[in-house]
Amino acid sequence: MVQKIRIIDAKDHVDEEVKIGVWLTDKRSSGKISFLQLRDGSAFFQGVVVKSQVSEEVFELAKSLHQESSFYVTGVIHRDDRSHFGYEIEVSNLELVGESEGYPITPKEHGIDFLLDERHLWLRSKRPFAIMQIRNEMIRATYEFFNQEGFIKIDPPILTGSAPEGTTELFHIEYFDSDAYLSQSGQLYMEAGAQAFGKVFSFGPTFRAEKSKTRRHLTEFWMIEPEMAFTTQEESLQVQERYIAYLVQSVIDNCAYPLQLLGRDIETLKKYTKLPYPRISYDDAIKMLQDHGTDIQWGADFGAPDETYISDQFEQPVFVLNYPIAIKPFYMKPHPTRDDVYLCADLLAPEGYGEIIGGSERETDFDALEARTKAAGLNEKDYEWYLDLRRFGSTPHSGFGLGFERAITWICHLDHLREAIPFPRMINRIYP
Ligand code: 4AD
Ligand code: MG
Repeated sequence: MVQKIRIIDAKDHVDEEVKIGVWLTDKRSSGKISFLQLRDGSAFFQGVVVKSQVSEEVFELAKSLHQESSFYVTGVIHRDDRSHFGYEIEVSNLELVGESEGYPITPKEHGIDFLLDERHLWLRSKRPFAIMQIRNEMIRATYEFFNQEGFIKIDPPILTGSAPEGTTELFHIEYFDSDAYLSQSGQLYMEAGAQAFGKVFSFGPTFRAEKSKTRRHLTEFWMIEPEMAFTTQEESLQVQERYIAYLVQSVIDNCAYPLQLLGRDIETLKKYTKLPYPRISYDDAIKMLQDHGTDIQWGADFGAPDETYISDQFEQPVFVLNYPIAIKPFYMKPHPTRDDVYLCADLLAPEGYGEIIGGSERETDFDALEARTKAAGLNEKDYEWYLDLRRFGSTPHSGFGLGFERAITWICHLDHLREAIPFPRMINRIYP
């Protein structure tokens, strides 16, 4: 029996006859030989069909195959030093499985809107392949990192009655006879988790009814939200930078081929594994922008060009600390010696990718939190459980949220978040 393998394992089967289920990505034929470009989801490589070495039916079948038809290929694996992959298959047999006629994505250039309409097929191409391999490695490394650091994964609900990040960007749903929202952050639940298990993290979808059409916004995106009891904001920053450096190092170590497909420079990525990351205060960031000639005033939130200017002053990701109270959510802990800023930080990615993490120490004082819940216009009844966390053994605790697609977009050096997720959801797109 010939062994069935995947392309990625070809290196373990040199000079052996194997069978692989594949799709055709491209083809070149002459009278005597056909070169089939093959993919099976694990990698891409070439099949060579030599007329004098196969039956006439097999040679004719090879010549008639269309782009994206599926078939089994049987043959012997050889080293192939001319290709990046390093191996090819010398075909002895082909068995057609699924025909494909008129595949819409041809080897020529296509516009982004067309490709997004065909996303269910576009995923088969090399560039999405590379990005999804890197996304997968970052998922793997995330679980590994937080498990190594003693965190357990807690899954917050998606259907919620709370609005941690403000009420303007909620997706409303009818929940039987009452109202509910799709989760815009699992944080409040993660705080309950931290008081139960000490160190917890979540990794799941979150939803924002963002009206903005920018390259940095999706309406559905994935967030990693760690939360830690008995932990200060400074200790949380150290976890954040270790985590980001770990993600980058894991991609460097395990994604050489996808990075090469994307043309991402590894020397640039290596700079992001050096710790610690620089920290500047919000106050100093405002001064930096004003000195540069921007007319931003203290108290304003940064726009994308502001974030780019700030991060361009550093070689690594940079933490901006202690934002004004007025522009951050109600649950943060005020600075111990100032009443106008919170103990919080955003992490700005280099190369103009903007905010990838938002985090803070959390308010632990019952009265202060209750007052700020009211002031934020939130319905107190919905937050009774959250206030309970301050009634029963409250601890100093801190946490953060990493926007997963923002991190992928930066590490892969993409133009837009829409390529960092298999099926992007944006203000004007919910198909396919
Ligand atoms: O800064 P945000 O809104 O913070 C929170 O939700 C906190 N509750 C997190 C926490 O402390 N547990 O969102 C966190 C991150 C941002 O830094 C950004 O990277 C990403 O989520 N993000 C988005 N990513 C894609 N599309 C959007 N519309 C996003 N909004 C935020
Ligand atoms: Mg934020």
